[in-house]
Amino acid sequence: MEDSRGRVTREGIRLYEPADFDGMRRAGQATAAILDAVARQVAPGVTTEAIDAFIEAEIKAMGVTSATIGYKGYRHASCISINHVVCHGIPGPKVLKDGDILNIDVTVIVDGWFGDSSRMYVAGQPNRKAARLIEVTHDALMVGIEAVRPGNTFGDIGHVIQAFAEGHRMSVVRDFCGHGLGRVFHAPPNVLHYGRAGSGAVLEEGMFFTIEPMVNLGRPETKVLADDWTAVTRDKSLSAQFEHSVGVTADGCEIFTTSPGGLFHPTY
Ligand code: MF3
Ligand code: CO
Ligand code: CO
Repeated sequence: MEDSRGRVTREGIRLYEPADFDGMRRAGQATAAILDAVARQVAPGVTTEAIDAFIEAEIKAMGVTSATIGYKGYRHASCISINHVVCHGIPGPKVLKDGDILNIDVTVIVDGWFGDSSRMYVAGQPNRKAARLIEVTHDALMVGIEAVRPGNTFGDIGHVIQAFAEGHRMSVVRDFCGHGLGRVFHAPPNVLHYGRAGSGAVLEEGMFFTIEPMVNLGRPETKVLADDWTAVTRDKSLSAQFEHSVGVTADGCEIFTTSPGGLFHPTY
């Protein structure tokens, strides 16, 4: 099918043109450069609002635009989700302490293209369980990305992520998912991080979307706090998340948000 802006599948998933990959690459690399710079800011004693202020200043200095400031009333340049916070943690006066693990999620707009990525960081030294959770969540994202190629389905991606996480006796959050993006922040499809192999829409060259699994040490259930944003694990178990923006190529995929400094996975 066609609409005024180009090709769309039956499921409403836009198929971008080869030339569009360059726009996504620039947006993704801006996001990744910011997430690289943030690594030096994370330490015990620092507040999450100070980290967010740093991110907002970086975004300004780069001459790009935050996609989250003003999005559905959200007022910050990042989401910062500590320990049992699953996602959408709001930056504030909370002070990081030694051993805290946190996800920082940034989305920027460059010439109309959206780059969306998040990673885990550690204030000081993580304990062994936290380090394992980070490891498994990172690797779950990467096995999901390995399933991205034309002819596979979105269910294949969810299935390998779920099998990997559950194979390590951890659980995959069902209440939040990845999403199509491109010239918009959130578009079809919902990219589930669990599911049945062979189910869902078939991947085609030119699809742009995020994969952003949230993995819990305990049960998968979440609840949203009274601030209407912060999602936490119901059982208070630790949660981790990694997110990349990717584009389907003729024989696999391109990761738009690779770290220029090789810092996507934290070192500790
Ligand atoms: N970046 C998040 C995502 O991965 C969305 C954050 S929306 C906000 O889709 F408003 F909470 F920032
Ligand atoms: Co996203
Ligand atoms: Co994000």
